[in-house]
Amino acid sequence: MSSLEAPTFPLAPNSVIGILGGGQLAMMLSIAATELGFLTAFIDPDPHAPAQKVSNHIESAFANPETLLLLAQAAQVITLEFENVPDQVLEQLEHSVLVYPAKEIFKISRNRVLEKKALVVAGLQVAPYWAILGGPQLEGALVGVGGKGILKTAELGYDGKGQKRVSSEAELRAAWLELGEVPCVLEGIVPFVRELSVQVARNPQGEIAVSGVYHNTHVAGILRRSVFGDHLEDGTRENAQNMARTLAEKWNVVGLLTLELFELADGTLLVNEIAPRVHNSGHLTQNGGNISQFEAQIRAVTGLPLRDFAPGLPCMMVNVLGWEEGCEPDWSAILRIPGTHLHLYGKKNRAGRKLGHVNIVASSRGSGSSGAGLSVREQISEMLERGAMVERLLFGQVAL
Ligand SMILES: Nc1ncnc2c1ncn2[C@@H]1O[C@H](COP(=O)(O)OP(=O)(O)O)[C@@H](O)[C@H]1O
Ligand SMILES: [Mg+2]
Repeated sequence: MSSLEAPTFPLAPNSVIGILGGGQLAMMLSIAATELGFLTAFIDPDPHAPAQKVSNHIESAFANPETLLLLAQAAQVITLEFENVPDQVLEQLEHSVLVYPAKEIFKISRNRVLEKKALVVAGLQVAPYWAILGGPQLEGALVGVGGKGILKTAELGYDGKGQKRVSSEAELRAAWLELGEVPCVLEGIVPFVRELSVQVARNPQGEIAVSGVYHNTHVAGILRRSVFGDHLEDGTRENAQNMARTLAEKWNVVGLLTLELFELADGTLLVNEIAPRVHNSGHLTQNGGNISQFEAQIRAVTGLPLRDFAPGLPCMMVNVLGWEEGCEPDWSAILRIPGTHLHLYGKKNRAGRKLGHVNIVASSRGSGSSGAGLSVREQISEMLERGAMVERLLFGQVAL
């Protein structure tokens, strides 16, 4: 990148932002970019990529030098919606165009072993782990992480895929075979009380902004709901936000970084994993009344001013997952619930696939018979009730 002439920040309106990947994250990044006066183009091999509804589609494999060059020539800056981009792709791009975040960040976030090492070097805590790069390292691994654990492939896992819980030597060996004898990491089971996430954005000028802290619930390894405004001690919130700031500064991130955290009973926060991009748990920022995570990433990579992006009101998100045939959710019933916002990505239905999400925002005015405003606590419990109604309409039941 040193061979490049540094552009003037912020980038001018009508500048082109190139995006690697054309899924729902790229779609929502493109919408935010368009609103700020930028143009966008993306590369994705999928002819039905959701982002094509709102952005210019270069239909191509990622590792195609010709189309990469096309994107590099058209764009003033490139950003990404996912981390599993081959190194040579980023290298080629970095020769001719700015790529934010830089490839060093992707190297770290793509590989769970490198990621944990880098987090520890930055002074953050992670789950007990044991790197398994080959068969001999299975020896002693289980005892090393406390007798039971989760074996995860070092690369390419998402939504709980590429993971197996193990509680005996025999199970560990079987799991490693099943995962294809690829490099893995064995993690001790963390007895977390809550899963949280927090985001940080940093622009090329070094300005930093943090998000609120979201409380996330997973079902079968897939994010079910994220809530902003759950009871969270001030110390925990500040701690999480400071961890995010620390990483952004130490790693010189330009762009947006999401930290997935485990909160222990004594308040300790461990980093589960990081994503150098917008994240499913941050979707609630779209309707919470401040800038969204998508706008924050676009502002960061174009050098626009940043500001903290905690939502102004309590809000939550419930994922819409693919349904069994004949069980399509009643969208009108969902939209009739006060405070709901439906976001659908236009993807083909397949059971369990992420097809959209519903944001639910607390009402800002009082709705009680006395006419008095609701307290924050009342706002939150009303919102959670509405969220539970949405979940019942989506899943037929509320998973705890
Ligand atoms: N070490 C662990 N201890 C307890 N639960 C875990 C651990 N690692 C992962 N999980 C659970 O599995 C979910 C998915 O794991 P994660 O490593 O975040 O993979 P993914 O890339 O699929 O998001 C986590 O959000 C958490 O609920
Ligand atoms: Mg995760």
